[in-house]
Amino acid sequence: MRRFKVKEVLSETAPGTEMVVKGWVRTHRGNRNISFIALNDGSTIANLQIVADAAKFDENLLKKITTGAAISASGTLAESQGKGQRVELQAEEITVYGEADPNSYPLQKKGHSMEFLREIAHLRFRTNTFGAIFRIRHAMAYAIHKYYNDRGFYYLHTPIVTGSDCEGAGEMFRVTTFNPDNIPRNPNGTVNYKMDFFGRETNLTVSGQLEGELGALALGEIYTFGPTFRAENSNTPRHLAEFWMIEPEMAFYDDNDNMDLAEDFLKYLIRYALENCEEDLEFLNNMIDKGLRERLRDVAESEFVRITYTEAIEILTKAGVKWEFPVEWGRDLQAEHERYLVEKHFKKPVILRDYPKDIKAFYMKLNDDGKTVRAMDVLFPQIGEIIGGSQREEIYERLKGRINEMGLQEQDFWWYLETRRFGTAPHSGFGLGFERLMLFITGMSNIRDVIPFPRTPKSAEF
Ligand code: 4AD
Ligand code: MG
Repeated sequence: MRRFKVKEVLSETAPGTEMVVKGWVRTHRGNRNISFIALNDGSTIANLQIVADAAKFDENLLKKITTGAAISASGTLAESQGKGQRVELQAEEITVYGEADPNSYPLQKKGHSMEFLREIAHLRFRTNTFGAIFRIRHAMAYAIHKYYNDRGFYYLHTPIVTGSDCEGAGEMFRVTTFNPDNIPRNPNGTVNYKMDFFGRETNLTVSGQLEGELGALALGEIYTFGPTFRAENSNTPRHLAEFWMIEPEMAFYDDNDNMDLAEDFLKYLIRYALENCEEDLEFLNNMIDKGLRERLRDVAESEFVRITYTEAIEILTKAGVKWEFPVEWGRDLQAEHERYLVEKHFKKPVILRDYPKDIKAFYMKLNDDGKTVRAMDVLFPQIGEIIGGSQREEIYERLKGRINEMGLQEQDFWWYLETRRFGTAPHSGFGLGFERLMLFITGMSNIRDVIPFPRTPKSAEF
């Protein structure tokens, strides 16, 4: 007998089919004559009802079929008598692989808090909510590869261990094999990195962009999709110390081409979720955020607003709102400002461009005004910044000047600078935070709940 996945059984299998199903028990109810077992195998949010005639089974076996237990059941699919399902499995045989003691299995009741479920992240996959989230996360990862593959972009694997700080913010995790109690030192007392594993200072990457640019300046259009790390002490519902980023980089794209791609890409991903993750989205819409599907449709159909940073400062100054953080040309915008623009003022996603050079990274192309750079941030309702990107400075002297101006070490970027000496070309790119996207798509409110095992300040369990 073939093993069927529950998804297949519920959607397309004819009554009368003989089958084996395997999964985890969600509930077991009934009486002395008959048992109803709701089985979930992860293939879909829906459960398959298994009906077991008590006369056919050992009483002790039926007792072991409790919430959380792993079982296998074989039998014949039948049209369901009860409400709520098209078909049910009339069981002939049941095997219990693993029991789950009702007195200690933590997922007995529904309605656990997200905080509690985070503490049992090894088991939270077994709830409806997290099943839905991680199926959607998979679908989004697949859609990202499909989007770029269909458009001739190459997936480039950039290194995780690097010697450079792409964002220049110094928020890096050190990579070393030194024994902290016995670090080799130079005669003058400084650390002797020549003795370390790589013979130099290294860290976990904050972004694959710089290496991505090297690829784009030969392959044309590339994208990265990998883990990135930030040792910033931000304990917010939008920040992780380890998050995944998608970074396309395109030769011969200017900042407008870059914005067009970012907008098209985001809308594609939202449409993909609406079309391919219907059941899971319906669940999240009902249980987590009643406005979810409508917001997804709205954003997929809206035309994003594009304004300059300077225009945004004007709007915010005239807003008549008492801000927690001051609004002033030259200062970075805070979440409250971003969300005001998106949720109150425009009621649409907003792309902010041409930021002051001093609040952005060294690699961004300087505008003719000498004060602003060709940066662009995409701001989303509920999320704030979901994408950050820019046209890159392709002029050797200017780039070198910016590296020095920002107090970075020119020799750390010699290879990056060389691409501006040999066949330099205009190019652009951006980074989409995968978990920020997931927050938007699922309607969840804490970024710790859209990645399987979150890493945040003072927390790296599992
Ligand atoms: O704006 P960021 O720092 O830009 C870069 O890293 C560029 N090198 C990208 C590029 O141009 N190729 O980060 C890009 C995006 C942000 O818009 C946000 O969505 C996400 O990455 N992000 C984070 N997500 C979760 N936790 C954090 N600590 C994040 N920091 C940035
Ligand atoms: Mg940014």
